[in-house]
Amino acid sequence: MVAPIDLEGLADACGACHLCPLAAGRQQVVVGRGNARARLMVIGEAPGAQEDASGLPFVGRSGQLLEQLLLEAAIDPHHDAYIANVVKCRPPQNRKPTRAELAACLPWLEQQVQLVNPAVVLLAGASAMDALLGIKGGITRLRGQWHQSETPWLRGRWLMPVLHPSYLLRNPSSRQGSPLWHTKRDLQEVRRRLDPPAGQLL
Ligand code: URA
Repeated sequence: MVAPIDLEGLADACGACHLCPLAAGRQQVVVGRGNARARLMVIGEAPGAQEDASGLPFVGRSGQLLEQLLLEAAIDPHHDAYIANVVKCRPPQNRKPTRAELAACLPWLEQQVQLVNPAVVLLAGASAMDALLGIKGGITRLRGQWHQSETPWLRGRWLMPVLHPSYLLRNPSSRQGSPLWHTKRDLQEVRRRLDPPAGQLL
C-alpha cells in the first residue's frame, strides 16, 4: 500500500480497495467530511445505509445527533471537526464490523489521521476505542477519559472515547447521570482541550 499524499488521493485509493469482503456490497466508499485542517477528528465505527448512499460519514440520524451535540459544546461540525469512521464500507444490515474488517481498514485510517493531523481525537463508540486503543469493552467506564497512545501515528494526540450517538438515540433521557448528560459533559471537556491556553494566539 503506497501512502497517498493528500486526502483526495486517499479517497481514490479507498475507492479501489478490495482488501475485505465489505467492498463487494458497498454503493460508495465513505471516507470523511468536514475540515481537513481541523484540530479535532471524530472517528465512528462504519457507514450505515444513508452514508453508503451519500458517500459521507454520519449523515443519518446518529450524524444529526452528533452534529447537534457538537454544536451544543460550541464545536462547529463543519469548521472545527473532520469526521470519519474506522471502516469505510457499510457492513451488511449495519452489523458490527468484524475484527478482520477493522484490521483490514485500519491502514487507511492511519493515513487519514496523519494527513489531517488532529490534536484531539474523539473515539465514538466501542469499535473505534478498540481499533485505536486496543481496549475491548468498558466504554461506559472509560468514556470521557483522556488517553494517549504510543502507536506512532497516534503519539502526541489526545484521544477520548465517547458513547456512540446511535446508543444515545436508543437512550434519549437527558436527566442527570444519563448517557446523554455524560456525553454533553465529555464534549465540553473536548471543547476546553481545543481552546488554546490563555495568551497563546491561534
Ligand atoms: N455510525 C457510524 O459509526 N458512522 C457513520 O458514519 C454512521 C453511523
